Amino acid sequence: MASSSSELGFVFLLLFLSLLVASKPQQDSNFLFEGFNNSENHLNLEGATVVKPSGSLKLTNRSYNIVGHAFYYKPFQMLVNTTNTTKILKVSSFSTSFVFSIVPSSSGPEGFGLAFVIAPSTQFPWSSPGHLLGLVNSSNDGSPSNHLFVVEFDTVNGYRSQADSKGNHVGVNINGMNSTVNEPAAFFIEGTEAQKEEFSMEESDAVQAWIDYDGEKKIVNVTIAPISLPTKPSKPLISHPIDLHEVLKESMFVGFSASTGESKASSHYILGWSFSLNGPSAELNSSRLPEPPTKENDPSSTSFPWIKLAVAVLSALILLLIFSLCSLTLYRRYNNFENLEDWELDCPHRFRYRDLHVATKGFKESELIGIGGFGVVYKGVLASTGTEVAVKRIVRGSIQGMREFAAEIESLGRLRHKNLVNLQGWCKRKNDLLLVYDYISNGSLDSLLVNPSVVLSWDQRFNIIKGIANGLLYLHEEWEQVVIHRDIKTGNILIDEDLNARVGDFGLARLYDHGQVSHTTNVVGTIGYIAPELTRTGKASTSSDVYAYGVLLLEVVSERRPIDESGQFVLLDWVVENQSLGQIHDVVDPKLNLNYDEEEVELVLKLGLLCAQHRADLRPTMRQVIRYLNFDDPIPVTGAESSRMSSGFLEVVSASTISASYNLSSINSMSSRLVEAGRQPCTC
Ligand SMILES: *[C@@H]1O[C@H](CO)[C@@H](O)[C@H](O)[C@H]1NC(C)=O
Ligand SMILES: *[C@@H]1O[C@H](CO)[C@@H](O)[C@H](O)[C@H]1NC(C)=O
Ligand SMILES: *[C@@H]1O[C@H](CO)[C@@H](O)[C@H](O)[C@H]1NC(C)=O
Ligand SMILES: *[C@@H]1O[C@H](CO)[C@@H](O)[C@H](O)[C@H]1NC(C)=O
Ligand SMILES: *[C@@H]1O[C@H](CO)[C@@H](O)[C@H](O)[C@H]1NC(C)=O
Ligand SMILES: *[C@@H]1O[C@H](CO)[C@@H](O)[C@H](O)[C@H]1NC(C)=O
Ligand SMILES: *[C@@H]1O[C@H](CO)[C@@H](O)[C@H](O)[C@H]1NC(C)=O
Ligand SMILES: *[C@@H]1O[C@H](CO)[C@@H](O)[C@H](O)[C@H]1NC(C)=O
Repeated sequence: MASSSSELGFVFLLLFLSLLVASKPQQDSNFLFEGFNNSENHLNLEGATVVKPSGSLKLTNRSYNIVGHAFYYKPFQMLVNTTNTTKILKVSSFSTSFVFSIVPSSSGPEGFGLAFVIAPSTQFPWSSPGHLLGLVNSSNDGSPSNHLFVVEFDTVNGYRSQADSKGNHVGVNINGMNSTVNEPAAFFIEGTEAQKEEFSMEESDAVQAWIDYDGEKKIVNVTIAPISLPTKPSKPLISHPIDLHEVLKESMFVGFSASTGESKASSHYILGWSFSLNGPSAELNSSRLPEPPTKENDPSSTSFPWIKLAVAVLSALILLLIFSLCSLTLYRRYNNFENLEDWELDCPHRFRYRDLHVATKGFKESELIGIGGFGVVYKGVLASTGTEVAVKRIVRGSIQGMREFAAEIESLGRLRHKNLVNLQGWCKRKNDLLLVYDYISNGSLDSLLVNPSVVLSWDQRFNIIKGIANGLLYLHEEWEQVVIHRDIKTGNILIDEDLNARVGDFGLARLYDHGQVSHTTNVVGTIGYIAPELTRTGKASTSSDVYAYGVLLLEVVSERRPIDESGQFVLLDWVVENQSLGQIHDVVDPKLNLNYDEEEVELVLKLGLLCAQHRADLRPTMRQVIRYLNFDDPIPVTGAESSRMSSGFLEVVSASTISASYNLSSINSMSSRLVEAGRQPCTC
């Protein structure tokens, strides 16, 4: 009896232990490498791959015909049973993010690229380098028995074709090198439909990539951006339906592969990597990653045959000679490199393209500080004065009526106020328009509000709210002409080093009217901030600015976006609802930890609702808003309005979705004027 019970105990112990062992691999369904120091135990490295002393993972050097692999040491369960009894398998969702850097050869052509790979094994014994990226060979390329999911970042074109030109593509491949979908390397600019900024993966210091697969919806998203970009672009470069059910096996390894070719070679590095099964992968913090490798003169570069070098140098010299002869003639003919039109010559706010080019180090990706609705923003230092500026490049707007534009920018350039981001000047070059602004150190208000490491105190927020009001009052009433902002939102408010608000981007919406640029909803504002009458009449006014300011007030107090991504949550409705329940303090940002002046918070919330009223004629003017903020006047009760306001807002939401398809003529016929009254032609 005694012996059999101890046997039973032993069996249970064994069962328990085996359960422990069995469940262990499932515990880590995610990982994060910020640099690869001491990571050898968690990675399988093959081929040319090494961990550099700096902490970066180097997949290939610039020798010809080599391959490097790096895989996480444990497989992941990519297929799971939906039920215990039937054998219906479901593909797991996964998410990964990594930073890579490609250092092209300084002497010869570069190649071939690297790939993120999900594979049944970490070894590819028969694979070939070059185009095949060390994953397959020419006879098994594309074979369903490969079970490969590949996202390639290639720098050479010409898969299975004669073309062997420079490439700069991102592609999603199944079982081989034929891409199901591929796109030139680019990222989308925030908030717009079709503004895509292309960039070179090789020339960027480093590139961050995000790959997200939704196992339920069977959609893969691939997003890339230069590492200097502060946030992940919200729209992916590739979003493509793909069913991995037949491709993946139950147990799969994740990792990278890179290769060089017969006569083309680059070094391929990974600086950081996170991965997660069935959940978002951890954000990589770029300040914790190893420094990107320097691009020039990598000492490990392979020596290029002397004869070719000599030819290259000689032809470069000849080209240089021809070029300088040509430009000399051109210079003589126009006496000016920039080939300006007459009227451009004496505009006081016009910058020389060359100066801006130098200031931003040639619009280098490392100087990128943001993407906005209208273009990308670079930080620059003007060589002549040493002042820091922000240069906004409005991309590929086929802007017409340039002269009229210039007149308007010239007049905007004369606006000066401590709560405005002053426009210092402008420059045009072909289809690009460059606007030069003060550089404001702390970035935009929306990024500060959502940044977990910064909490703006109530006093700071109240000060910011007042600052915006002063800036808007200046635009609306205090300057010689009425200026309507037309796109007030937290993303357009910049915060300077003393935490004062500076209103930015005024007038840009108007510029776009001229520009006949279709397919952008930003012409009428940003969803969530658009006053109801605007969607009906298309006529912006100072009171539609006041409406947007009202929504912004609610946002600053609650730290919630006006509308969430799903469109389910509408901030204005939520505040109205809480107000009617008598629990208005429930909407206050919990990060404030109850450290705020109740009277001021209540004032701001009520003022927000007053400004964001449905009826434009009932909204206060900015001058009146400032009186309320200073407690000079008591704030009127808005109770009766609230229910109507709420339904009116919903109407706006649906209407503004439609406005995405506004056609050109309706945008251009919008009668609103940025500079409404007394506009005189610019004297420039
Ligand atoms: C490049 O890597 C290959 C493979 O690991 C190695 O044999 C070769 O020596 C390396 N070349 C240089 C220049 O470091
Ligand atoms: C990795 O270790 C080296 C020293 O061995 C150090 O210089 C480097 O900063 C480390 N990298 C990271 C990312 O921690
Ligand atoms: C799914 O269920 C079948 C039998 O019911 C089993 O053989 C298989 O191992 C299971 N797979 C997974 C991933 O649990
Ligand atoms: C599958 O089996 C596990 C343990 O055997 C059980 O806890 C779970 O409820 C079962 N699920 C279904 C859908 O039958
Ligand atoms: C290609 O790889 C397969 C194994 O995946 C191997 O059987 C075959 O021999 C290889 N072909 C060549 C031409 O190397
Ligand atoms: C590549 O894939 C496309 C469609 O995905 C197919 O039409 C084409 O034939 C494939 N090419 C090769 C060489 O496999
Ligand atoms: C993929 O991108 C689409 C479009 O932006 C988005 O709706 C979807 O949620 C994304 N899916 C994943 C898994 O990130
Ligand atoms: C990134 O890392 C740096 C240094 O460790 C840290 O100061 C900073 O707060 C981190 N940023 C985020 C957003 O986590």
